[in-house]
Amino acid sequence: MTKTPKVAIVGATGAVGEEMRLCLEERNFPLESLTLLASARSAGKKMSFRGEELTVKELTHDSFEGIDIALFSAGGGISLTYGPSAAAAGCMVIDNSSAFRMDPEIPLVVPEINPDAAFTHQGIIANPNCSTIITLMGLYPLHLAFGLKSIIASTYQAVSGSGAKGIIELEQQARAWAEGGEMIQEVYPHQIAFNLLPHVDAFLEDGYTKEEMKMLNEGRKIMSLPNLKVTCTCVRVPVFRAHSISVSAEFERPVSVEAARQAIASFAGTELVDDPANLKYPMPLDYSEKIDCGVGRIRKDHVFENGLALWVTGDQVWKGAALNAIQIAELLGSKRQQT
Ligand SMILES: NC(=O)c1ccc[n+]([C@@H]2O[C@H](COP(=O)([O-])OP(=O)(O)OC[C@H]3O[C@@H](n4cnc5c(N)ncnc54)[C@H](OP(=O)(O)O)[C@@H]3O)[C@@H](O)[C@H]2O)c1
Repeated sequence: MTKTPKVAIVGATGAVGEEMRLCLEERNFPLESLTLLASARSAGKKMSFRGEELTVKELTHDSFEGIDIALFSAGGGISLTYGPSAAAAGCMVIDNSSAFRMDPEIPLVVPEINPDAAFTHQGIIANPNCSTIITLMGLYPLHLAFGLKSIIASTYQAVSGSGAKGIIELEQQARAWAEGGEMIQEVYPHQIAFNLLPHVDAFLEDGYTKEEMKMLNEGRKIMSLPNLKVTCTCVRVPVFRAHSISVSAEFERPVSVEAARQAIASFAGTELVDDPANLKYPMPLDYSEKIDCGVGRIRKDHVFENGLALWVTGDQVWKGAALNAIQIAELLGSKRQQT
């Protein structure tokens, strides 16, 4: 790979793709050129990057010629169709979809948690599920301190997790409610404005959803904890951006709230906001467009013997997707510079 890579964003017009472009700019990511790819619908659209106007191109199998790093964010089908051929052409693929996450040959990486896994790649690295990343940013420091055994989690997932169309649906329904108009329901099976949907992704035969199983399967893979037990309920909430997770976790060793607070406060990428007396705890409005995830409401769990209850919030479009992918690229770049 050349020293200053040529980068492409696949799905550049989507909720995550747009934030990838912004994160590359804000983090001053060293690149020689940026190529924006999307479907034929968006070809020709102009988008700005570092003061220049770039034109979105239609994604084809020839799009990756000369590209060093491709950040994929256009859904699993597109990743499966174009990811392997891009990697075979010598392009480093960092994929945001669920297409490759559980492939044992493909690393699933959160740079603060399992950076070494990134260097085992064979051309493709998978970015984990957004709720899983944010939950683990709160849990992994506690795992290091006390040894994680099991989790019971409930998620509160923002509509931008469903892409740009989720944001439009909540906006339209809230406006229609205020103006007495008709609410349009296209993305979600029920009204999302002023409601909660205990349903994210497709239902499986055992009653869980695919999203809920990602917390179990991806959590085990990222933390190398094959025996970790997880029960999860994923809920879509009428919040525009940033997911929150309520977690009760059981540990191998005795816990203390003070040691847990210290572990969170000293972990890179996580901040402690835990001051109930002054009504301070992490909330989605405070964590939108924020790099760090927030952890608060840390207390002894009343069910588990060595248990803690906590609340984690993080920007799922950033740390749960675009930012984490770019941090992976930065990680690979820093290693290249050292060698
Ligand atoms: N939103 C989140 O918080 C989040 C978090 C983690 C992971 N993800 C994952 O990231 C991926 C993208 O999600 P999103 O929320 O950004 O969705 P989105 O807002 O719906 O955007 C989808 C993007 O994919 C492009 N696309 C669709 N069909 C295409 C095709 N045939 N060829 C080329 N490009 C095509 C779209 O281009 P057009 O504009 O041309 O249609 C658009 O740029 C998904 O796999 C999702 O699961 C999302």
